[in-house]
Amino acid sequence: MSKSADTKSNTFTMTNNATGESFDFPVLSGTCGPDVVDIRKFYAETGHFTFDPSFTATGSCKSKLTFIDGDKGILMHRGYTIEELAEKSNFLEVAHLLLEGELPNKKQYEEFDHNITYHTMVHEQINYFFRGFRRDAHPMAIMCGITGALSAFYHDSLDIWDERQREISAHRLIAKIPTLAAMTMKYTLGQPFMYPRNDLSYAENFLYMCFGLPAEPYKVNPILADAMDKILILHADHEQNASTSTVRLAGSSQANPFACISSGIASLWGPSHGGANQAVLEMLDQIGDKKNIPEFIARAKDKDDPFRLMGFGHRVYKNTDPRAGVLKKACDEVLEDLGVQDPRLELAMELERIALEDPYFVDRKLFPNVDFYSGIILKAMGFPVEMFTVLFAVARTVGWVSQWKEMIEEPTLKIGRPRQLYIGEDHRKYVPMNKRK
Ligand code: SDX
Repeated sequence: MSKSADTKSNTFTMTNNATGESFDFPVLSGTCGPDVVDIRKFYAETGHFTFDPSFTATGSCKSKLTFIDGDKGILMHRGYTIEELAEKSNFLEVAHLLLEGELPNKKQYEEFDHNITYHTMVHEQINYFFRGFRRDAHPMAIMCGITGALSAFYHDSLDIWDERQREISAHRLIAKIPTLAAMTMKYTLGQPFMYPRNDLSYAENFLYMCFGLPAEPYKVNPILADAMDKILILHADHEQNASTSTVRLAGSSQANPFACISSGIASLWGPSHGGANQAVLEMLDQIGDKKNIPEFIARAKDKDDPFRLMGFGHRVYKNTDPRAGVLKKACDEVLEDLGVQDPRLELAMELERIALEDPYFVDRKLFPNVDFYSGIILKAMGFPVEMFTVLFAVARTVGWVSQWKEMIEEPTLKIGRPRQLYIGEDHRKYVPMNKRK
């Protein structure tokens, strides 16, 4: 098929050269970013499917939440850059911005803060779910199960067509995910659960539930609380990434929001996605010393070796990931404030320097992404490596819930149902067992 873009009438004309037929498809424009060709009628009009297996060139929805320009390294939430939000805002304010569309005024902020704070406790029976897991279960395995299980408790907020119930389930998920994450960490450590405290901020409360012990008072370190809040902001939402697309697809069948968020957690777990922060730390420990960097760089370039430089590369960012820069700065501050000398940070910086001088990485535009430095901070803060992706899920729940809400409120909600190019066997007759080879 040959095609020409007739920008005057704002359509794409495609011609099937086998039959000479031409088809016009409307071009839709957004606020910023590439225009899209509306191919919703493509199959009906041409009898062909389009083919884009990992959706590298496919827009799945319209959204007002987040804009990414991968070439310029731009990330904005509702028009505000991630750099400004990380520097001037806080996580709960960003959560309100993503969920409701605007930065809250003082009254709105106080109301939102109250609503989230007073939903942080979980039903007491949820404690019993943990006992079914081995203590050495991966925390993400527990989080997948526990989050989906919330559907079994909050029957009064499962009706997705009821606006008030949507709002309550959104608040419950944003409020309870840190509690569940902290309970998961405590369970794997064999320590007692810490109940949330209403006198602490979102980030302070999370640190308290993770690191507090009933045996002694726990004072939240303001430096750690500030770093935690910044890490949550940086991971809150990121357009139609794999886990967000999973949440949207699950939600398109009208599954309840707790089940949808559980599906997002499952998708985030993969080392190509949110699991990369844990994989970066494991990779740095595997490299061990600067003198081993060339060997691992060679392995990352070797197509026959499955090893990849974890924390490098991105499907969209072909320039720096703006979040990596903010995290690198926070990393320096936290380690200095805590007086932590983590050789991994030096190793990471040397790895970054060498990789970014290597044509293989430069030509493929493989720069450090959000996961490259986050693990080093989280390690310095005292989190077990297995908890890193859980922390990513705590932050991303705000984005998942906001994207789910935006989709459900779309007047034209339809179940997602991709098609395929079938390359299997053509029709053949059943062969009885005694006639098979
Ligand atoms: C996140 O989508 C999002 O927004 C995700 C995220 C979010 O906030 O939700 O930003 C969070 O998931 C960040 C990414 C974390 N993952 C990692 O750090 C894992 C390591 N990175 C790679 O697995 C990879 O870069 C991906 C999965 C992130 C992106 O892969 P792409 O865009 O599909 O790139 P590709 O597989 O098409 O690779 C292009 C080339 C290939 O080589 P050639 O075939 O051209 O010779 O680059 C190579 C790849 O082999 N390549 C790498 C590499 N990443 C890509 N080579 C070595 N090390 C790497 N990390």
